[in-house]
Amino acid sequence: MKTALITGASSGIGMELAKIHASKGDHLILVARSEGKLKELASDLISKNKIQVEIIVSDLSKNNSAQEVFDQVKAKNIQVDYLINNAGFGDFNSLVDSDWNKQAMMIDLNVKSLTHLTHLFLPEMIKRKSGKIMNVASTAAFLPCPMMAVYAATKHFVLAFSEAIANEVADKGVTVTALCPGATTSGFQDAAAMHESGFMTNQKFVSAESVAQYAYKSMMKGKRVAIPGFINKATSGLIRFMPRRVVTSVARKMIDRKK
Ligand SMILES: NC(=O)c1ccc[n+]([C@@H]2O[C@H](COP(=O)([O-])OP(=O)(O)OC[C@H]3O[C@@H](n4cnc5c(N)ncnc54)[C@H](OP(=O)(O)O)[C@@H]3O)[C@@H](O)[C@H]2O)c1
Repeated sequence: MKTALITGASSGIGMELAKIHASKGDHLILVARSEGKLKELASDLISKNKIQVEIIVSDLSKNNSAQEVFDQVKAKNIQVDYLINNAGFGDFNSLVDSDWNKQAMMIDLNVKSLTHLTHLFLPEMIKRKSGKIMNVASTAAFLPCPMMAVYAATKHFVLAFSEAIANEVADKGVTVTALCPGATTSGFQDAAAMHESGFMTNQKFVSAESVAQYAYKSMMKGKRVAIPGFINKATSGLIRFMPRRVVTSVARKMIDRKK
């Protein structure tokens, strides 16, 4: 029996990952802010799969929240075998027009708490010579993205951080996977206020379920970078050979407000 702790499990990719893990007959710890949604998901998963599901209600953008989640897991005496740092959000706006509090919360959630949770859970995985971590980045990790500048930069961090840690633990029985999804139908578009973005019409959106299926398999294989979809894989590879300025202006054209 393997226990997975999934942040951002109340919706989208995180919820689908929880369903997949539960279907294997394994236990779960679900973390997010929405207590009602977590309770509903937990009781559904318990009744369908006869597994143990704990919920931890936490705003991971708050100072010390990662430590509090870790302490709650310790108090329940649960061993976390898979840590899935999935919670995250974006914001569609130019930096000068954006709300600073939203940008700061984004950095605290997407970067700080993901890093802190990894720092807290990794030592015991290394000690057991077993464990898997999956950090959710984005295809935005491969390019500067005007109008979502802070978000894309947080995802650059997640990708670089995860690849570096994967190298550090390569001989320790632990794997680290950076998941880089492209456009995925979920609560993300509402949370990022993306409705006026050209991205909503010029991208082919895939389901959160299909992304989660690919992600879970990649994590189990210990893949270091997992990019769902052929087009996303090809584009992320191609970008490396293009001038940064060109990549940045193409990104701007694709994401800018619909005229
Ligand atoms: N959808 C896309 O197109 C796309 C593309 C690339 C990468 N991603 C990444 O995929 C990950 C999952 O997003 P999603 O697409 O599944 O979006 P989603 O449906 O909006 O899910 C986001 C999850 O994060 C949780 N969350 C948000 N703020 C939180 C906070 N302060 N503390 C704790 N939990 C918080 C939300 O739960 P509560 O609101 O209940 O807290 C929710 O469960 C994110 O890291 C996102 O950046 C998404």
